[in-house]
Amino acid sequence: MKIELALRAALPDVAAFVFEGAGVVLGVPLPLGKNLMALAADEGFTGKEKELAVLHPGDAQPGKRTLLVGLGKKKTCTAETLRQRTAALVRRAADAKCTALDLLLPGAKETPVEFGASVKAIVEAAHLTAYRYTKHKAPAPDEPKPLDALNLLLSEKRLRSDKLRRLVQETEAICAGVLYARDLINEPPSRKTPEMIGTLAGELGVLAHPHPGAAGPKRITVKVHHKDEVEKMGMGGLLSVAAGSQQPPVFIHLSYKPRSPRKTVALVGKGITFDSGGLNIKTGTFMNNMKDDMSGAAAVLGIFQALRHIDLPLEIHGLVPLTENMSGGGAMKVGDVFKALNGKTVEVLNTDAEGRLILADALSFGANLKPNLLIDIATLTGACVVALGPQMTGTLGTAPRTIQRLQELGKQTGEYFWELPLFENYREWLKSKVADINNIGKPGQAGTIAAGLFLKEFVGDTPWIHLDIAGTAWTDDDKGYLTAGGTGVPIRTLFALLKTM
Ligand code: BES
Ligand code: MN
Ligand code: ZN
Repeated sequence: MKIELALRAALPDVAAFVFEGAGVVLGVPLPLGKNLMALAADEGFTGKEKELAVLHPGDAQPGKRTLLVGLGKKKTCTAETLRQRTAALVRRAADAKCTALDLLLPGAKETPVEFGASVKAIVEAAHLTAYRYTKHKAPAPDEPKPLDALNLLLSEKRLRSDKLRRLVQETEAICAGVLYARDLINEPPSRKTPEMIGTLAGELGVLAHPHPGAAGPKRITVKVHHKDEVEKMGMGGLLSVAAGSQQPPVFIHLSYKPRSPRKTVALVGKGITFDSGGLNIKTGTFMNNMKDDMSGAAAVLGIFQALRHIDLPLEIHGLVPLTENMSGGGAMKVGDVFKALNGKTVEVLNTDAEGRLILADALSFGANLKPNLLIDIATLTGACVVALGPQMTGTLGTAPRTIQRLQELGKQTGEYFWELPLFENYREWLKSKVADINNIGKPGQAGTIAAGLFLKEFVGDTPWIHLDIAGTAWTDDDKGYLTAGGTGVPIRTLFALLKTM
């Protein structure tokens, strides 16, 4: 979708927001606003949160349809309200066969949400809602075409503001990163093998074009380590999981190095391009959607896609171990033992607990970089889906203040995080008679915590956060600004976090 900042209405239709019971339209001068509200009231529209009215061309706005979007009570309006209501508007506009829309922005004092934050929320929701995964499917003739142009109407003063323009550019770069991740997650598993994703990631490593006012060019470098190098490095976990697959594993190391970074952050993403379970094969419907088991990897790559256009005073590493989890003749067996990159030995008691095996190597690699913060993102446990459902990312780690900040930021971004404890009393579940640790814990009990305790063995004393996105990475249906398939969680919140560092 094309979003522009504009002074005057120029597109076929127009839309605006309304607070419940306020009797005015936000961003519209009083006489016209009152007129519109009177027309809308005839259709029973009062501005309640779920309401949306389409007024047909008439005296109020000759030649145009006017879409009025209810925001509910002014007191309770947040950036997430604006996002959800913009999503409803974008969907309704498509249903009404509207392809281009002018949107009146609420004035600075008209909502409790700060002006920049409202613009950001509206831009995000518009891009994220209009996304379609169309690579392998022609749209059905009766399918509404998504809105393809949105102009945000602004005062002349606002239009001249470089700050606002930069905010919009940055927001659009982050959204492009989210959509890049969604595309990768939605891709069929045999079309995104580890080698294919390695090739794609290589394309992120080009000199970014610095935008006006940027601090200067910065470089993203990408190293794609193929199987022979993975062997030389000693990534025993990644190699064990890959042993059952025809596809060789890949380990990607991306780095973003601005001129004088204040801190270093390493981001690790689980990249299982298909999780069959291995010899402990997934039964029934449990294998459905297991092409999404690389959503952590997709989030890291999406972040680097966005970083090509964003200036941050941080050195950022992206570490992405990629493999299939299959049950071919060479597959790792129950009872097998391997040595991870940090030297610890692991007994495999269930081949379906494979994510933690590849993360063991990637986290060891990350800890060796001595970052100020190490974050891993992984569709790690079914237990997390049971505990927290589809809208909360399980959050564990050894950086309590940063976890708290992440939770606070999540309330603004609409990506929610809930902390679970790294309860040391359960550490004994990981004991093995033949190796340093085993990979499962106690079946049916606190699986997300056990997985977190397993990962902790590989981070040394580096401040670390583990994000279990098993529930939040995927949605079966369109919902608000999410579209059926991959969600791109938690890219937006991680950017918000990086900005605070
Ligand atoms: N990729 C799965 C976790 C998963 C399950 C993600 C459902 C999204 C939805 C992971 O590799 C897995 O299979 N975990 C096992 C671990 C168990 C064997 C200890 C699980 O959660 O059942
Ligand atoms: Mn698994
Ligand atoms: Zn998995």
